[in-house]
Amino acid sequence: MAKLHFKDEDKTIDIQVGQNILEAALANEIDLDHACGGVCACSTCHIKIREGFDLFPEAEEEEEDQLDDARDIELCSRLACQCTLQEETDQVIEVEIPLWNVNLVQEGPDAAHQAH
Ligand code: FES
Repeated sequence: MAKLHFKDEDKTIDIQVGQNILEAALANEIDLDHACGGVCACSTCHIKIREGFDLFPEAEEEEEDQLDDARDIELCSRLACQCTLQEETDQVIEVEIPLWNVNLVQEGPDAAHQAH
């Protein structure tokens, strides 16, 4: 089982071969946005893979099209729901959630708190 480190949250989780980054994040209570439910129809699960980028298959055209609409993209940008781990590795995969998306996640608990 490989390790996935979310830089901003400083949290390391497991990811299995055949599992994508979004699935691994949600299974470990990392609130990564995923408006379309993981079917490559939005760009809200945008992440940046700082280490281990080559462990995932190349982005297909559909993903590239969605990333074109994402904010703050870099060469290491991917959609978390499209990054399925292909093979076992000892390398820790380093992932960053773009700042604008982190802000949305952080607004969640505050908004919930205000409602009570
Ligand atoms: S959740 Fe919509 S593209 Fe990944």
